[in-house]
Amino acid sequence: VDAVIIMAGGRGTRLWPASVEDSPKQFLPVEGEKNLLDLALERAFACNPNTPVFIVTGERYMEKTLSCTDKLEKNRKKQVRVVGEPAGKNTAPAIMLGMLMAEKECGNCNVLVLTADHLIKPLDAFVADVEKAVELSASGYHVAFGIRPSAPETGYGYIHVGEKIMSGRRVLEFKEKPDELTALAYLKDGSYLWNSGMFVFNSSLFVRELEKLSPDVAAAFLDADMSVEHDYRDGVSLYYGGDLPGIYAKTESISVDYALMEKTSLACVVEAGFEWSDVGSWDEYASLASVTGQVFEAESSGCTVLSDVPVALCGVDNLVVVFKNNRLLVLKKGKGQLVRDAAEFFDKRK
Ligand code: GDD
Ligand code: MG
Repeated sequence: VDAVIIMAGGRGTRLWPASVEDSPKQFLPVEGEKNLLDLALERAFACNPNTPVFIVTGERYMEKTLSCTDKLEKNRKKQVRVVGEPAGKNTAPAIMLGMLMAEKECGNCNVLVLTADHLIKPLDAFVADVEKAVELSASGYHVAFGIRPSAPETGYGYIHVGEKIMSGRRVLEFKEKPDELTALAYLKDGSYLWNSGMFVFNSSLFVRELEKLSPDVAAAFLDADMSVEHDYRDGVSLYYGGDLPGIYAKTESISVDYALMEKTSLACVVEAGFEWSDVGSWDEYASLASVTGQVFEAESSGCTVLSDVPVALCGVDNLVVVFKNNRLLVLKKGKGQLVRDAAEFFDKRK
């Protein structure tokens, strides 16, 4: 790959109260000291140690993002550009912004787009799949990474796979977040994969197709000459402001899955040879981590704790207990989808 975009501006309301407005899920610790954004950066540099990495995030998260890039060694820092969006308009604008910045720097290029809410291993299998995807991207395709589905998840995109092409397959149909019955039918059918949410795009093909398929997103960017303020902080480049507030006031809020992947006829998929998990809700988090913080347990089992204060678990089973940002969640495992409503409830009362 010639450049990497890390999309790190989502809210992650299902991970309330560890993920709150001021500190969204990419800053959630997952492997000891490391958070999800740290892991995404590792992934980017594993694919190409010399690549520029554009972290596209909310302007309000730039400081926190810098505390992640702070942990990098000096010559890595030089490769990082933190790009601050004035508002969250979902992933189509975020990628468009990163893509135009990458083009300014590298010309027409093949760009790996990563999320900041996944766990992936092993890294070398991931790198090998990215190489396959880059070949396809260089041949004129938008490339997704497909995961064998194991449940009728409605929070994912589904890819209907077609004939073989190079080391991937053509996408016959891309369906973002189907309803449960449709997801169940896809699962039974066997010829559908989950969309992992990561992509490899050729920059000029991406821009051209977004302009054609979702003009309401692309026009705002293409009508402006996009001058953006540039600053340095401890070796890391920062971009924000300038024409961005005007562009973001005009662009549509939509994810790349709807804006491009569902509409294009040029999509391909590489089936992942790596293990992938989405840390979208506490149920997934709980399957990865058990106890963080000071915990006392008596006649209790199967609980997951993430807490700023000491916690005693007495005679309770299969709970997720989270005390973060001065808010408390007590959740029965398996009910993680209910948390989004809790986050919204408290957001409204603020
Ligand atoms: N910069 C920026 N700005 N990043 C954003 C924004 C935004 O407005 N909105 C979301 N992101 C980032 C999130 O931080 C995350 O890393 C990534 O983009 C994906 O956003 P999600 O909101 O987590 O998407 P999703 O999980 O509902 O769906 C996507 O991922 C699934 C797999 O996890 C889709 O691509 C699905 O098709 C896919 O199956
Ligand atoms: Mg997600």
